[in-house]
Amino acid sequence: MSTIKPHKTKHFLSLTDFSASQIQHMLDLSTSLQNTNEPVLKNKHVLFIFEKPSLRTVLGTEVAINQLGGHVIHTKPEIMLSKGKDVPFSSREAMKDTIMNVAQWCEAIFARVYDHQTLTEMAAISPIPVVNALCEKHHPMQALADLLTIQNTFGKETPVTLTFVGDANNVAHSLFEGMLKLGHSVKFTGPEAYSFKPDAVAHFNTLAAMHGGSFIQSVNPEEVLPGSDIVYTDTFISMGEEHLAEEKLAHFFPYQVNEKMMQTAGPDAMFMHCQPAHRGVEVTDEVMDHPSSLIQLQAKNRMVSSKGLFAALLAPECGFETSSKSEKAAEAITL
Ligand code: NVA
Repeated sequence: MSTIKPHKTKHFLSLTDFSASQIQHMLDLSTSLQNTNEPVLKNKHVLFIFEKPSLRTVLGTEVAINQLGGHVIHTKPEIMLSKGKDVPFSSREAMKDTIMNVAQWCEAIFARVYDHQTLTEMAAISPIPVVNALCEKHHPMQALADLLTIQNTFGKETPVTLTFVGDANNVAHSLFEGMLKLGHSVKFTGPEAYSFKPDAVAHFNTLAAMHGGSFIQSVNPEEVLPGSDIVYTDTFISMGEEHLAEEKLAHFFPYQVNEKMMQTAGPDAMFMHCQPAHRGVEVTDEVMDHPSSLIQLQAKNRMVSSKGLFAALLAPECGFETSSKSEKAAEAITL
């Protein structure tokens, strides 16, 4: 079996391996690039590989890269990179052959996949950055946009308390890692079977102790909602889980974010949702369209934060320092 020499490449697979100061650097870079067309990504080509649908991630990131002078290439049927859930990557050739060829022409890969392992395998091979555009475990691009939205709304130095209502999967996981690293407090409420498991709870408690925030979870929304600055929810049925809809919805019925829930959170509580939202299921129209809803700012910031992230990874003049930890993690994978 062959072994490929690991590369010292900066990948962005999750917020786990990025420090508080690296995350804040990406957010500051996003803000400074927000209203510029400075061509820091000139001659940079980013290949988009999407196994699942996307609106905000594809369009927000594509506009960001275009504004900074870079180029986006979408996979298409004749470029058989990914075939979806059952055949997650090309069955035409070994992944390493595909990735090493792509690296001859492109400067980064932006991939939305069913299995996080596909990303770690790509990252272990790839001499160009691999960026997670969502997998079943993480959605770090959404977390960056949400952290920026929170700083835009409450101020950069103000610690806030956010309660996530719903399913403890990709969006909640990345958001909690980012929030806790930046010193915020997070609470979770959802059905027990869909709450954070002990390893995630331990990880969040460690981050809270290190950075001065806190983490709690409860199946009872009334227990955690009071005192929240923000109430956040995500779809109860994630992409690829459609066959579980009936079973899951029976558990999630008490967790719809409605006006009563917002009142319980507090009179000034703001609402956030990563979207796509299922109005009338996890959230009501009244909450989505209320003046305290931040959903449009979140959507706008998907573009703004993508500028900061891709500039950090691809524009050395932006001064982003790589994480030695993530390099070690990538090196640990032997092919
Ligand atoms: N949890 C959702 C997030 C969509 C942005 C999903 O994985 O489908």
